[in-house]
Amino acid sequence: MPTLSANPRAMELCDLDDVCAIEMELFPTPWSREAFEADLKRSPPTLALVVEEQGRVIGYVVGWIIEDEFHIGNVAVTTKRQGRGVAKRLLTEGIRIACEQGVRMATLEVRSSNERAIGLYEHYGFRPVAIRRGYYSDNGEDAIVMLADVGDRTWGG
Ligand SMILES: CC(C)(COP(=O)(O)OP(=O)(O)OC[C@H]1O[C@@H](n2cnc3c(N)ncnc32)[C@H](O)[C@@H]1OP(=O)(O)O)[C@@H](O)C(=O)NCCC(=O)NCCS
Repeated sequence: MPTLSANPRAMELCDLDDVCAIEMELFPTPWSREAFEADLKRSPPTLALVVEEQGRVIGYVVGWIIEDEFHIGNVAVTTKRQGRGVAKRLLTEGIRIACEQGVRMATLEVRSSNERAIGLYEHYGFRPVAIRRGYYSDNGEDAIVMLADVGDRTWGG
């Protein structure tokens, strides 16, 4: 497998073919291309980063800064490239940029069965703070709301 060398960079409209293909691959209710486009055109823009390998996007993170909160809407890494630290690089850079803009806490929702993602988030100090019963429309699964205090730490660049 090729060495992972590319650092996260801002998502652009030209990335959306790859991003939408990963959405279709991984999620039962994928975000639409229009949803990503609207986020990229928003002002101030959504914080959206990608990691690419050999010219193709292999993972991305999308989140919104709302006053002192960074709400992470989506983190995804294409199946064949999982387990190599791509999600960690995306989250570390996303949180670092958010903290530069005054963010103090990060929040997200995750499926209660998604042990892999929960394990990832626990690395960053995310802890469960609430349950949204039946949050996911495809199967009625609960969402765990997780929160991390991020403003009191230094995030690697
Ligand atoms: C969750 C996801 C983003 C992780 O991406 P990744 O690039 O494979 O993650 P990383 O390689 O950076 O691993 C980071 C951490 O995730 C956790 N993790 C990875 N694989 C795991 C597994 N099989 N079981 C439990 N935890 C796991 C570990 O804590 C790992 O850290 P470690 O390697 O130091 O132990 C990826 O699996 C994915 O895209 N899943 C499908 C989409 C999804 O569920 N997104 C989250 C929506 S809330």
